[in-house]
Amino acid sequence: MVRAGSITYPFTFASGQLGRTPTWREAVGGARTVAVITSRPVAALFPEVLRAIAQAGPRHIVVEVPDGEDAKTLGVVDRCYQALAQAQFTRGDLVIALGGGTVTDLAGFVAGTWKRGARLVHAPTTLLALVDAAIGGKTGINLSSGKNLVGTFHQPERVLADDTVLPSLPARELRSGLAEVIKCGFIAEPAILDDLPDPARTVSQQSERYLRLIEMSVRAKAQLLADDVADRGPRRHLNYGHTAGQAIETASGFTLRHGEAVALGMVYAARICELLTGAGGIVCDTRDVLTRVGLPVRLEAAVSFEQMWELMQQDKKVSPGRPSFVLSPRRGTATLTTMPERTTAQAAFDDVLRPG
Ligand SMILES: NC(=O)c1ccc[n+]([C@@H]2O[C@H](COP(=O)([O-])OP(=O)(O)OC[C@H]3O[C@@H](n4cnc5c(N)ncnc54)[C@H](O)[C@@H]3O)[C@@H](O)[C@H]2O)c1
Repeated sequence: MVRAGSITYPFTFASGQLGRTPTWREAVGGARTVAVITSRPVAALFPEVLRAIAQAGPRHIVVEVPDGEDAKTLGVVDRCYQALAQAQFTRGDLVIALGGGTVTDLAGFVAGTWKRGARLVHAPTTLLALVDAAIGGKTGINLSSGKNLVGTFHQPERVLADDTVLPSLPARELRSGLAEVIKCGFIAEPAILDDLPDPARTVSQQSERYLRLIEMSVRAKAQLLADDVADRGPRRHLNYGHTAGQAIETASGFTLRHGEAVALGMVYAARICELLTGAGGIVCDTRDVLTRVGLPVRLEAAVSFEQMWELMQQDKKVSPGRPSFVLSPRRGTATLTTMPERTTAQAAFDDVLRPG
C-alpha cells in the first residue's frame, strides 16, 4: 500500500497481471467509460493489455498521444480533454495511464483536472515509471520555459505493477530507470547500492534482483511521501539530483533521457556537497556507482553553466532563502540546503560537468 497523507491506495505487484481481464474488471469498478491514455509505441508493444481492458466490461476509448516528452504539452492535454468530452466522460469514469513516466505525468494531469478530478489508475511500463513516476500523485506538463512547470497533485486509486513489461525496454531506458533507483540508494536505502544489476546481463537473467530493487525503491519513496504529500519536507529528498538534472535535461533539448540527466545532477550535487562541507570522496563514490550500470558521469551534451543556472532558478521547488537543494553527505542520508551561491554553483560545474 502507498499512503499519501489521508489517502491510501494499493501498489499491487504481479507478473503478467496487466494482460489479464480480471485485473481490469476489478480496477474499473463502477466506471461506465474507460479512457486509456497511451502512446503508439506502447500500444503496439502491449496489444494484450488493451484487449484485456476492452474485455473488462465498460465502453472504452484509447487516446493515443505522442511518445516521450512530446506528450507533456498543453496542446496534447487539450486533445485529451476533447476526447473525454466527446465520450461524455464523467468524474466517476476511469482514466488508465498505460506507459512510461511521460504518459503517467500527462494522464495524471488530465485526470486530475477533468471536471476537477476523475478517477485514475496507473499501469507503468518503464522501470522509471514503476519505481517513481507512477507513485505519489505528482503530475507534470512542460512549457518552453521549463520542465514540469504546470502540474497538480492527483493520486491514482491503484498502481498495477507488472515486471513482464521490463524485458522489452531498450538498455538506455532501463539505465534511465536505474538512475531513480540509485537516487533512492543515496538518499534513503543504501542496500540498493550494493545490489545493482549487471549491465551485461538481461533483466530476465537477474529478475530476482530487479524485484528487490523495485521493492526497496518503492518502499523508500512511499516512506518519504507518506506524511508530506505536498512536498514541503522530507519528500523533497526525492529531488536529489533533479535541480541540476532537470535543468540539464531541458537545456539538452531532451536529447538526454530523464535518468541520464538525473545521474549528472547527482554528480553535480555530490560536488556541491564536497564544496560546502569540505568532505571528500562523494563525487568519486557517486561516479563509481553510476558507472557500474553504465550511466553517464560526464556532460557530453552542449550545455553551458549559464543555461543550467538559469533553468535551475525556475525550478518550482526553488524559492529564495528556503532549503530546496538536496545533498547526500553519506550513502542513505539526505539533507536540504538553500540553493548554492552562483560562485559555488559555477565552481562545481567547472569541476565535474564542463564538457570537454
Ligand atoms: N511524477 C513523478 O513523480 C515523476 C517522477 C520521475 C519522473 N517523472 C517523469 O517521467 C518522465 C520520464 O519517464 P520515462 O523514463 O518512463 O520516459 P517515457 O515515458 O518517455 O518512456 C521512455 C520510452 O520507453 C518506451 N517504452 C515504454 N514502455 C516500454 C516497454 N515496456 N518496452 C519498450 N519500450 C517502452 C516509450 O515508448 C518511450 O519511447 C519524465 O518526463 C519525468 O519528468 C515523473
